[in-house]
Amino acid sequence: MKNIGVLVSGGGTNLQSIIDATKAKTIDGEVKVVISNKDGVYGLERAKNSGIEAIYETDEDRVIEILKDRNIDLVVLAGYLKIISPKFVNEYRNKMINIHPSLIPAFCGKGFYGQKVHQGVLDYGAKVTGATVHFIDEGADTGPIIIQKAVEVKDDDDAKELGARVLVVEHEILVEGVKLFCENKLKVEGRRVSINE
Ligand code: GRF
Repeated sequence: MKNIGVLVSGGGTNLQSIIDATKAKTIDGEVKVVISNKDGVYGLERAKNSGIEAIYETDEDRVIEILKDRNIDLVVLAGYLKIISPKFVNEYRNKMINIHPSLIPAFCGKGFYGQKVHQGVLDYGAKVTGATVHFIDEGADTGPIIIQKAVEVKDDDDAKELGARVLVVEHEILVEGVKLFCENKLKVEGRRVSINE
């Protein structure tokens, strides 16, 4: 049973998908704490509603201390809109994962978050987008990729409609990625992640 810490900055629908999957025992882990760098966000409410410790904290050293004090094995960035420092990356190398709403390396990195990602896909005229679960490294959305899943772009899509379809896939592959981590099935060799079923 792994201890999971989730970092959020907003509504927390990805967080909710992890909470639900741990309660359903799909994931062999427990969400021990949810930390947000923005106060009053619904992600913190979701944690409280599930009896999970919810903390508003902007100082990264404090965040690391909170995670260490709770023996967190896996840190999940679920809509966390803050850059992770090299110090934090090192503390949780290959134990910190992120969900990004595109097929990395497309439409990611600086400035590509939330709806901006989907607007970028539409402006470019891409026919396929999707979501990516990856380990965190020193770059922005550049860590080793764990899982990806494609989503078709429809001719009449706007960013909101496309984002909603991608969000469903985000929830699906984030749960799968956390599940595999908790079952010790992920092996990282350089940039490549293999899944030992
Ligand atoms: C989602 O698009 C997610 O990919 C991005 O933040 C958005 C909000 O996620 N990282 P959530 O509903 O707060 O989990």
